[in-house]
Amino acid sequence: MISIFDPATDIDLNAVDFGTPARDSQVQVSLNIDGRSISVPQGTSVMRAAALLGTTIPKLCATDSLEAFGSCRMCLVEIDGMRGYPASCTTPVSEGMVVHTQTPKLATLRRNVMELYISDHPLDCLTCSANGNCELQTVAGQVGLREVRYGYDGANHLDEQKDTSNPYFDYDPSKCIVCNRCVRACEETQGTFALTISGRGFESRVAAAGGDNFLDSECVSCGACVQACPTATLMEKSVVQMGQPERAVITTCAYCGVGCSFRAEMKGEQLVRMVPDKNGQANHGHSCVKGRFAWGYATHPDRITKPMIRKHINDPWQEVSWDEAVTYAASELRRIQLKYGRDSIGGITSSRCTNEETYLVQKLVRAAFGNNNVDTCARVCHSPTGYGLKQTLGESAGTQSFDSVMQADVILVMGANPSDAHPVFGSQLKRRLREGAKLIVIDPRRIDLVDSVHARAELHLALRPGTNVAMLNALAHVIVTEGLVNQAFVDARCEPEAFAQWSAFVSRADNSPEVLGAICGVPAADIRAAARLYATGGNAAIYYGLGVTEHSQGSTAVMGIANLAMATGNIGREGVGVNPLRGQNNVQGSCDMGSFPHELPGYRHISNQAVRQEFEQAWNVTLQADPGLRIPNMFEAALGGSFKGLYCQGEDIAQSDPNTQHVTAALSAMECVVVQDIFLNETAKFAHVFLPGSSFLEKDGTFTNAERRISRVRKVMEPLGGKADWEGTLALAAALGYPMHYNHPSEIMDEIARLTPTFTGVSYASLDRHGSLQWPCNAAAPDGTPTMHIDEFVRGKGRFMLTGYVPTDEKVNGRYPLLLTTGRILSQYNVGAQTRRTDNVAWHAEDRLEIHPTDAESRGINEGDWVGIGSRAGQTVLRARVTERVAPGVVYTTFHFPESGANVITTDNSDWATNCPEYKVTAVEVSRVYHPSEWQKRYQAFSDEQHRLLDERRRSRGGKAEVRR
Ligand code: SF4
Ligand code: SF4
Ligand code: SF4
Ligand code: FES
Repeated sequence: MISIFDPATDIDLNAVDFGTPARDSQVQVSLNIDGRSISVPQGTSVMRAAALLGTTIPKLCATDSLEAFGSCRMCLVEIDGMRGYPASCTTPVSEGMVVHTQTPKLATLRRNVMELYISDHPLDCLTCSANGNCELQTVAGQVGLREVRYGYDGANHLDEQKDTSNPYFDYDPSKCIVCNRCVRACEETQGTFALTISGRGFESRVAAAGGDNFLDSECVSCGACVQACPTATLMEKSVVQMGQPERAVITTCAYCGVGCSFRAEMKGEQLVRMVPDKNGQANHGHSCVKGRFAWGYATHPDRITKPMIRKHINDPWQEVSWDEAVTYAASELRRIQLKYGRDSIGGITSSRCTNEETYLVQKLVRAAFGNNNVDTCARVCHSPTGYGLKQTLGESAGTQSFDSVMQADVILVMGANPSDAHPVFGSQLKRRLREGAKLIVIDPRRIDLVDSVHARAELHLALRPGTNVAMLNALAHVIVTEGLVNQAFVDARCEPEAFAQWSAFVSRADNSPEVLGAICGVPAADIRAAARLYATGGNAAIYYGLGVTEHSQGSTAVMGIANLAMATGNIGREGVGVNPLRGQNNVQGSCDMGSFPHELPGYRHISNQAVRQEFEQAWNVTLQADPGLRIPNMFEAALGGSFKGLYCQGEDIAQSDPNTQHVTAALSAMECVVVQDIFLNETAKFAHVFLPGSSFLEKDGTFTNAERRISRVRKVMEPLGGKADWEGTLALAAALGYPMHYNHPSEIMDEIARLTPTFTGVSYASLDRHGSLQWPCNAAAPDGTPTMHIDEFVRGKGRFMLTGYVPTDEKVNGRYPLLLTTGRILSQYNVGAQTRRTDNVAWHAEDRLEIHPTDAESRGINEGDWVGIGSRAGQTVLRARVTERVAPGVVYTTFHFPESGANVITTDNSDWATNCPEYKVTAVEVSRVYHPSEWQKRYQAFSDEQHRLLDERRRSRGGKAEVRR
């Protein structure tokens, strides 16, 4: 296990539960505990002060992730001058206080309380899943309990039935000591309020609200209650099955852009459970169902662990050695270049892979392929963020830490659904709302945040899909014309001419809420109210997601958001800012690492000769000065016959990119597709070389989350396929005649740091020291940069950009009268390759089409019916969910299951600046049907055939590969 020591006390922060949360106060209070002195921040509990001294006070209902509750009476102390025996968890320290934690009277009191607990507890410690890690057991030992005078025959709860309905944890009420920690964890940490204590006194029991059991209840399976439970009452099934873990390694979640830090708790080489790390700077000990529980895919039988090759995609696969696979791939890629030219091949990096792996793939493309045909899956999600923020603020990244939200007074969430897609940040945001911050939601759907428990949105502007820029201009109009601009900020920090032009532009009558509100489908009064609240409500922060970027005007909308923040002075300090919520774990990192065809690492343009020369010297090659192909250009070129070979690491373009039939036609037109992945994903079905990928548990590296936070990923088990992904890329590079020499990913990071000005202070040693670091991290900011643009913008003066609203070409008409928008759901992740192979399917086993009751009724559609959905791009069939979550005229689906074909429907329309696809606006018609679509039938037949070819793969017998020619 990794120890993190508090420099002041030398206590291992990972090992100690301080009983109550830390307090943040400048005022220090001195007291004496058992003859020793200590100073702690005002507001600290006596229990925490004692723990900081290394003194253990027995406790059951207290834990340092939750506010004290004071119910168990185990933590009693004596305090000079104070009557009775106060609970140390609920008693704050005061100046000069003298505390005694161990006296004969206290020992008797504590033993008496413990006797009561034990008289109603099954004494099956030896066979209990918590044995060795049970706080009740520990405290019984601490208080020296030797007998239970009441016997075990009185009224008790020992026969109560277990609830095993949740796929990941059990609830055994016979072991419950009603300490309330689970209820408080669900409220304070997660913000779901799914648990209550029902009944009174002896009848008190934990109950999950909204259902008969945990699975059917409102519980979202975040696991906070399981972590908080001091006994085996709430226990991970994996621990029940495998026993208590023996060691732990700190690593980072490989799902979303929150980047939660976890302790991977191991028994030998087996992962037993993932426990969110309470010192994790992005998550502070919290997690969601994906990171905590959905890791079973890593050892799923579908994993492909041997390299494979084949000449044609209708040939059976042949298992070969790594050497044979990369030699074959390299010879094919070189053959293609010889025949079709240097630019006929390219590579795609993945936002799921580490920074080091991504860096290597772009290096391989630029140095070994000899062109700049490298792109990343961030193309299809946040490329407009990179472009829009660079233009306005000067840096392609969000401006804040997640913790900054705790200083926000007004929170504007636009085109994002944090409680589903960034759940741990969603919980933090809800905590701030419960403290009184105001919320504005701009989204076509009624997302959970709009009316979650104790955290309702002040305003929900349910705009029509595709009208973000109109909405942002209308908001800007109100701010400018009603005199709400922070002129002092603008004068000091922004380019005056650009501001004057922007201000004149947004002030025009055609940008008023009265005009644009009609286009957005939102009352002008609501837009005015939102603008006033954002501009005058104190610290105002904007959080946005793919609902902003994935549009034909995605980059324009990002610039519109930056304009609003600059105009109101809401940037450059805590509690404000422009915060893109990145979808995948390493979207920020894959962009930082030079994955775009026009940029070298650190967002420096490939045409910049000085920068290029630095890389040329370091890599010992000549680099091309012209940008290479973006992903959509690669597809076009493939269909045009000039792009024939692709190296695709960890990205499933055949499922995740829009207009599936276009993508698969492009893949089919290529002569060598090399896929490096952990499963035979949709893209791999079109591949000629398969290199087994490694899961995040099988490699070292770093991920960079949505707050620019670089965190370590640490290997906890050997790669099932024999190589970590970075080693696979090294093997391919060597086979191409461009050997790269690294013994460990830390050496790759050292090279990144040498060549990237914003990373010069980053190394594995500095990451281990700090826990994590937010870039820029260099001589000017050796401890990293939590908040950007504090004194000036990265580009110097902030630049307002004109954001004329141009309606998308994708229009509804008589044939396609509804607008489809797409999104994610909590339990599934992106293309679903990982989460579909876990018990998360218990919550979401298929993609459904949400449709408003009015639209459903007029089409004769009922809940659960099969419905055909057709657009100008294609047709598919899903089952209907009739709900008022979507407005009339709008339908919505997720895209987690390949057979649903959500991207068969989406079109080739894309952002004007970055080609980010317009996933969020597709004109469609929906009708009741009884059969799968033609595409689905073709997909199923092709997929079945590919699985047959996989099942029939020939095993290598140590000889040469037999590739049919
Ligand atoms: S798992 Fe999370 S949401 Fe469910 S009851 Fe426990 S704390 Fe609440
Ligand atoms: S389930 Fe666990 S945490 Fe909840 S009240 Fe019972 S013992 Fe305490
Ligand atoms: S999926 Fe996101 S919120 Fe959930 S545990 Fe992983 S990083 Fe955290
Ligand atoms: S730990 Fe203080 S009352 Fe329970």
